[in-house]
Amino acid sequence: MIARFEQEVFPDNSLNELSIEKELGAGRTWVAEDQAYALTRWDEDVIDLLRLGVLPAYQRQGLGRVLLRTVLHHADRPVILTVRRNNDPALRLYRQEGFQLTGYLPDADALLLKKWG
Ligand SMILES: CC(C)(COP(=O)(O)OP(=O)(O)OC[C@H]1O[C@@H](n2cnc3c(N)ncnc32)[C@H](O)[C@@H]1OP(=O)(O)O)[C@@H](O)C(=O)NCCC(=O)NCCS
Repeated sequence: MIARFEQEVFPDNSLNELSIEKELGAGRTWVAEDQAYALTRWDEDVIDLLRLGVLPAYQRQGLGRVLLRTVLHHADRPVILTVRRNNDPALRLYRQEGFQLTGYLPDADALLLKKWG
């Protein structure tokens, strides 16, 4: 199921089955029926939100925010994530939910965001 989500939501850089299996073992995953998912890695000091994805047909209906808030609700340490600089929908959502800019990855043209507690 996660592999199908990946292909539909991140067609340009989908995680393959092996990577998904590895990440499932290292973190927690929330799935909203067959509509959306959040994949996290729980490191000692931070939780890395690796993926937040809503299938195109279900976007802009509040699901992304609900899933993100679910992750934040369970988080007992700061949450970090990487988002492409041109990903306006995701950036707006993360900023609204209190994430702050902590860095920039020039190679990926991506921003590092963090939310403390
Ligand atoms: C980013 C994503 C998870 C948002 O999920 P969603 O369910 O569509 O978003 P929501 O309906 O919960 O909207 C929450 C907020 O996100 C922002 N947003 C969502 N879609 C947007 C769009 N198309 N344009 C502008 N802002 C948008 C808005 O700020 C929105 O709040 P508002 O409706 O009060 O304006 C979803 O668009 C997605 O899966 N995108 C593809 C994968 C991706 O880029 N994931 C993030 C990688 S870091």
